[in-house]
Amino acid sequence: MTPLILILVSYLIGSLSFAVIVSKASGLADPRSYGSGNPGATNVLRSGNKKAALLTLLGDALKGWLAIVLAQVAASYLGLGPEVIAMAAVAVTVGHMWPVFFSFKGGKGVATAAGILLALDWRVGLLTLLLWLVVAKGMKISSLAALLAALLAPVLAWIWLPSSAQITAVVVISLLLIWRHERNIRDLLTGKEGSIGEKASGAS
Ligand code: G3P
Repeated sequence: MTPLILILVSYLIGSLSFAVIVSKASGLADPRSYGSGNPGATNVLRSGNKKAALLTLLGDALKGWLAIVLAQVAASYLGLGPEVIAMAAVAVTVGHMWPVFFSFKGGKGVATAAGILLALDWRVGLLTLLLWLVVAKGMKISSLAALLAALLAPVLAWIWLPSSAQITAVVVISLLLIWRHERNIRDLLTGKEGSIGEKASGAS
């Protein structure tokens, strides 16, 4: 029963869409109604409100981190295997992408995945984040940075994560994240993908 509760709690934590919550609290429009329509920090930044974008990024990363830490604590107190932590990682990602509180219209999982990776192993999290930062700063395209980070994460997970269940979870999360970037991949291939911070109309 406990693993099921942990998975459910992780899903519910993931379902807190900080892009929508922070936007509402900041008097901004629902990010699903402008720009790319994605409830994520990159799209909130298109509103021009940097503070709201940063809070979205931190909130979404924190929930990924929290779900893993909760699962780690529960696993160590109750003597559960690493599979529970792996399942919590996938569940919090699924919650973010298909949130029960927001009509199942969620984000692409980038910030949440960063929080998950940092909690699973700081080296995996930090190096993945570093690649994201280098590409985002150098190329100024958020989705490209996310996609390259999603390719790197499973390799780093394979090197450092202690169990095959957790490595598999990282592979599944990367595949989900790439799938959610389907439109971005098409726009990248046709040269139509916009730069980070380009403003969108209809955000306030
Ligand atoms: O974090 C999501 C990012 O990789 C792409 O967002 O709004 O440009 O589709 P967006």
